[in-house]
Order: sequence, then structure tokens, then C-alpha cells
Amino acid sequence: MHHLPLSVFCVTRHLAASRTHTQLLSNLLYHNSPTSPPSYSTSNRSYEAEILLSPTMRLTIPHTSSHIGNLGVMHETKVVGLDAGEHTTSDGETVGVPHSALTEIHRQMVIIVPCKDEPPETIEGVLCGIPAACLILLVSNSDRDAECDGFQAEVDMLDRFCRYSHRRAMAVHQKDPAASAAIRNAGMPELIGNDGTVRNGKGEGMILGLAVVAALLPEMRYVGFVDADCKIPGSPHEYCRAYAAGFASSPHSDDDHIMVRLRWAAKPKVRNGRVDFTVTEGRSSRVVNAWMNRVLGLLWERTETNGLPTTIDCERIISTANAGEHALTMSLALKMRMAGGYAIEPFHFVDLVERQLRSPSLTPSTSVSSNQSVLTESSINTLDMTPIRILQIRTINPHMHTETDDDHIHNMWKAGLGTMYHHLLPLCAVDDHLSESVSDLRREMLDFVKEQDRLVEGRKPQVLGASAAQPIQGPFSHEIVPRPRVYPPLETLDLAMLQQVLNRSGWCESLRRIGEGWRHVSKP
Ligand code: GDD
Ligand code: MG
Repeated sequence: MHHLPLSVFCVTRHLAASRTHTQLLSNLLYHNSPTSPPSYSTSNRSYEAEILLSPTMRLTIPHTSSHIGNLGVMHETKVVGLDAGEHTTSDGETVGVPHSALTEIHRQMVIIVPCKDEPPETIEGVLCGIPAACLILLVSNSDRDAECDGFQAEVDMLDRFCRYSHRRAMAVHQKDPAASAAIRNAGMPELIGNDGTVRNGKGEGMILGLAVVAALLPEMRYVGFVDADCKIPGSPHEYCRAYAAGFASSPHSDDDHIMVRLRWAAKPKVRNGRVDFTVTEGRSSRVVNAWMNRVLGLLWERTETNGLPTTIDCERIISTANAGEHALTMSLALKMRMAGGYAIEPFHFVDLVERQLRSPSLTPSTSVSSNQSVLTESSINTLDMTPIRILQIRTINPHMHTETDDDHIHNMWKAGLGTMYHHLLPLCAVDDHLSESVSDLRREMLDFVKEQDRLVEGRKPQVLGASAAQPIQGPFSHEIVPRPRVYPPLETLDLAMLQQVLNRSGWCESLRRIGEGWRHVSKP
């Protein structure tokens, strides 16, 4: 268990007025300073004074965290005030992040909205909730045909939205042949399917979005994701503010590696004609969180026996395994391997933990081979020596979205389990003692999936004369526990080439820059 050094939180005289809000906030949070009354500069812009005056978002402070090597996972904190007034000082339990600090981060943040066939008015509701300072990038995989071009309807909506709100946005379609060819030629043929375009899948859309940001918006430091099917515009507003609050309250410099993952306050369900707000964990999250805590529980134990930092309460450390809503520094986004489809979010943990396990500093005697892994020596090295921090924040708003059927949920949690079954668990078996626990857990996971498959099949209407029920196949694999499709880090792409091609006039039909104020793009 790690207590963060932030018990004293006060505004101090010696803080330079030239500092940005985020630096100031980090300083306040992470460095104990002599207590003294706030100073109010008249000659320079006084951040101390502004911090006291601008409305704040308030979060509880993460007092504990768990570590494997250089990866630190902060235990869940929560939003306790969307606008908590003027009190940015901390009582040791909570911290207020001023509006101006949030805006400073939002100005450097792209919010990627993956969408697929949502009504444009639903997507517009989501966009309305995204703070004005953020740049929006819509990555669509909506149906396009001559009679009904879903993407064109989205672009029309985006055009109107930008006109009304006087802001800028971008859009790209996942099936754009030229954009897909550019990705392939820049060095990621894995992302391209048999039809020559980016593969279907939410994860694949997110990776395309990240590639566009890296190539065309290299000045942006943060990227966040918000689902397009959220029905309450206030929710994405809070999500984006929580992302910025997470970054603001975590000390970092330009190239630091931080991820903020959200857990929704509730995932309301309609039951017997009533909306039930008491459901606090989604059907998929419930399964994937529980298994991830069990698997990582093995690792904490293992690092403990190696005399390395360890943790407490293994069952509750991860509460955001399936965080569709998350944000990260671009510096981290470029270095991570990402998985396709709905495996993308659980795989974030798997990738970051796997890097630690493969790091010679943690496991000099690891005997695990790197088959089926695109984790090359160079891609390990860019991350494993630097600290990586994951913050988990619980929101105040619930997430109301399009309710999906049981098969969708079933495949989603199986995709999450697949990331551990195929990637993480095999890596954990590095000594005899653990090898036994790992085999047991892997077998248990397999039995669990088989049993759930059987139950689902049993609930389906039986067709007379049909043969015995077959296990449901994962979206990417014919294995009982689906093997995720894993893509190499974006930093392996030739981003200069990608930029050149994407910028070629009239080349990528779907790539749109909408609204005013687009300037010439700087080199990546
Ligand atoms: N671009 C693109 N391409 N977007 C897609 C695709 C695709 O192939 N497939 C889905 N999306 C978009 C949807 O349009 C939606 O806006 C968003 O991704 C989330 O998809 P849903 O199908 O609504 O997922 P969900 O609500 O079941 O699950 C969400 O929450 C989970 C946590 O409970 C997702 O965000 C999951 O990734 C997350 O784990
Ligand atoms: Mg949804």
C-alpha cells in the first residue's frame, strides 16, 4: 500500500505567478509546502488568486495505489462536486480543480467519439456535452450506401453543430479506402482487413482516431474517448471534466504516461417499466473486473515475494477494466499496443502489466516466450523504464445508453477475459509456486466460459433436429476464450508519411475539418 504524499494542501506564497494552473495544482497536491497565507500579485497574473476564485470540480484524493514495477494503479476516487465553488484548498480528503485548470488541459485535448449507426441527434447530444475547449474527432463506422449515407448525415449534423457552437471538429470514416491505404503504407497493415479498409470494431475505430490525431494534430497532449450512444448530454460533460481533473491533479511533465479511466456512477436499467438507478456495475464490467482482480492478485503476490512494491485488498483494485470512457496522454497512447473490438480497454491493463513482467528489472529469469506477441524489444524499452500512472475515477452522472442484448454483453466480457487468458496468465507462470496457481486459474476461467456458453445456448430457442449446442465464438477467434487481435504501438508508424497522405488535397474523401480556425498542420 502506498500513501501519496499529499496530506498538506495549501496555497503558498512562493509559487511563481508564471506557472500554469496544472503545475501549480500538482505542486499543491504532491509536494508538502510550508503553510502560509495566499499571495495576490498585482503586477503579474496571479494564479493563486484565480485558483481561489474560479469554480472547481472536486474529487476525492487517491490515498492508496498498487504497483507492479513502474506501473502504479491508483485506487478508485470519486467526483464529489461538479462545481464545488471557490474552495480549492484540500482537507486531505478532497481536492478542488479550478475551472481554468480544466480548460487549460481541454485546450490540448482531442475527444474521439467512435460511432456506428447511432441517430445523428443522439450523437449531437453527446457533442453538446463536450466542453468547448476540446477538439472533437468523430470516427464513424456507420453504414454508407447510395440510398442512405449515414456518414453524410453525421457530417451534416457536425457542420450544423460547429456553426451553432462556433467550434471546430474533424470526422473520418473507418472504411475510407484512402485513409486505410495510408495506415497500411505507414506501417500498420494489421489494422487492414480483407476488403482493404480498416477492420470493423470499436477498438479499430479508436486506433484509427489515434493515428489521425498523431499525424494531424501533433500539438495535442491528451486524448479522451466518449461513446456516441450516451443519452444524457450532462454525462459526457462530466466525463471530459473528470479526465482533465485527473490529469490536473497528477503531477506530470510533457511526455509523462498517465491514463484516467472512469467508472460510471450507475448504469440504469429499465425493469418492469421503471428505471432502476441502483445498478452500479455493468453486466460485462462485473465479470471482467472480478477476473482481472483475481489475475492481478497473483501478480501482486508475486511481486511481494520478490520484495517489490505490493498492494492491499486485491478484490477491489481494478474497478475500470471495461472503461469505454477513458483518456490518456498522447505520449502514452503512442507507445501502447492496443487490442481490437471491445477488448481494447481491458487490454490496456494487460499491455501495461505485461511490459512490467517482461522488464528485465522485474523478472530477470522470466522464461516466457514472446510468441503471438507484437511486443518487440524496442516497444518494451520505450515504456518500461518510465513511471506509468492509472487513475480510476467514479462519476456522479449515470450512463444511459442504448441497451444491448445478452449476446453482445456475453461476447464483450469474453473478449475481456481473452486478453488475460491468452496474454497475461501465460506470463504469470514464471516460477513453480505460481505456475500451479496460474494453471488453476486458467482452467477455472475456461470452465467458467464454457459453463456460461452452455447457459446462453440453453436459453436460446431450440431448433428441432439441430445438433448439440456449439460454444459461442468470440468475434476474432475460434477459440472458446477468444484471442484478442493485438496491434503494434502507433509510434511504430511513419507518422510523417501518414500526415502527408492524409493532408493530400481531396485524397481521403471522408476526412473532414469542420468549423473555423483550421491552421496549417505542424510536422509530427
Ligand atoms: N467507429 C466505430 N467502429 N465505432 C464503433 C464500432 C465500430 O466498429 N462499434 C461500436 N462503436 C461505437 C458505438 O457506436 C458506440 O458509440 C461505442 O462504440 C460503444 O459501443 P456500444 O456497442 O454502445 O458498447 P457498449 O455500450 O455495449 O459498451 C461500452 O461500455 C463498455 C463498458 O461497460 C463500450 O464503451 C465498451 O468498450 C466498454 O467496455
Ligand atoms: Mg453503449
